Amino acid sequence: MTPDIGKIREDFPILQRKINGKPLVYLDNAASTQKPNSVINAISDFYKTSNSNVHRGVHTLSEEASELYENAHLKAIKFIGGNSIEELIFTKNTTESLNIVAKSWGMHNLEKGDEVVMSRMEHHSNLIPWQEVCRKTGASLKFIEMNEDLTLDMEQAEELIGNKTKIVSIVHVSNSLGTLNDIKKLGKLAHENSALINVDGAQSAPHMPVDVKELDCDFFAFSGHKMLGPTGIGALYGKHEHLKEMEPFITGGGMIQEVSYEKAVWDELPWKFEAGTPIIAQAIGFSAAIDYLEKIGMTEIHSYEMRLANYAVDELEKLDGLKIYCPPKESRTGIVSFTLDGIHAHDIASLMNEEGIALRAGHHCTQPLMKMLGIEATARASFYIYNTMEEVDSFIEALKRAKNSFS
Ligand SMILES: Cc1ncc(COP(=O)(O)O)c(C=O)c1O
Repeated sequence: MTPDIGKIREDFPILQRKINGKPLVYLDNAASTQKPNSVINAISDFYKTSNSNVHRGVHTLSEEASELYENAHLKAIKFIGGNSIEELIFTKNTTESLNIVAKSWGMHNLEKGDEVVMSRMEHHSNLIPWQEVCRKTGASLKFIEMNEDLTLDMEQAEELIGNKTKIVSIVHVSNSLGTLNDIKKLGKLAHENSALINVDGAQSAPHMPVDVKELDCDFFAFSGHKMLGPTGIGALYGKHEHLKEMEPFITGGGMIQEVSYEKAVWDELPWKFEAGTPIIAQAIGFSAAIDYLEKIGMTEIHSYEMRLANYAVDELEKLDGLKIYCPPKESRTGIVSFTLDGIHAHDIASLMNEEGIALRAGHHCTQPLMKMLGIEATARASFYIYNTMEEVDSFIEALKRAKNSFS
């Protein structure tokens, strides 16, 4: 069933804003999403009624805060198809989640001769931590190449993933191209070679049903702010067998069972990875965001966004001089990157802004990918559940005007 978008839009106060005298058309959802009232209220209600630190108190407020915080873990793990909060660590964002895998797993499990396999479309947040780990351990990075249609070359992946591979660390949905990668197949290839698979789910978890068990991934990282939640919170799913063996990334209060002057014994999972006062209010906001998404349904969200994106691609394809960097329909998601002959991507975004339309322009934290494609930057429209077909029309019309003004 198509969600009632008009009703959904009423839940997002920011969508009432005007930018340069025009109604806001927010098409920068891959960077960060807007927040519904239920998320904003969950955070402010927490501060108004239950604010306290967690874990350490026996007083009522601390008990309430602890319960809310733990329930947020449960909500997040269930959202991605897991069942135990021991497998769900709250972090600051996807970047921190990916760093935990690289530093806490990679630094202790890789050595010279080992290989880390990734794609050419990785976000810097996945690429750089593994560059660092490889530099320090002597392991090497290997890349799955792309086909001309901007999908992964799975035949080459089969040849590349072998007995030297220790981990495949790969993006689920590319933030620059919108390509949806076949994680299940890559996971199978990794596991057949006794390697692990770590998934950057920053652009998948917010937009489609994700089931970590079905994907059979060893780790899965995502961010709250890209799925209607607040900034400052992300999550890392990890299989119990791995998290149990891994050393914490940071240490300090709140993550120990016992401490002497000489040593410390770590707390149970997931707390051993959550040192210091955690991101309590953000976790509660994140939990409200998950409630909001689940009420609409992730399958419905995905199919509605695909309608928006496919319509946008069809309309963009009609414009002369416009090049779309987007895979075929079967591998496409709600992200549409493009360049326009004779106009720099930043100029496109700034002309769009004059019309109230928020687009992103740049390398989208995938500089090596841009270089490989022979471009400096793209303009990117990325959709979410509150966008409308009319907004796609406004965007296309504004783009035509921008194009004319430069010709
Ligand atoms: C694919 C991908 N990975 C990782 C990140 C990093 O997310 P965060 O900035 O929330 O850590 C992003 C953010 O744009 C992304 O799109």
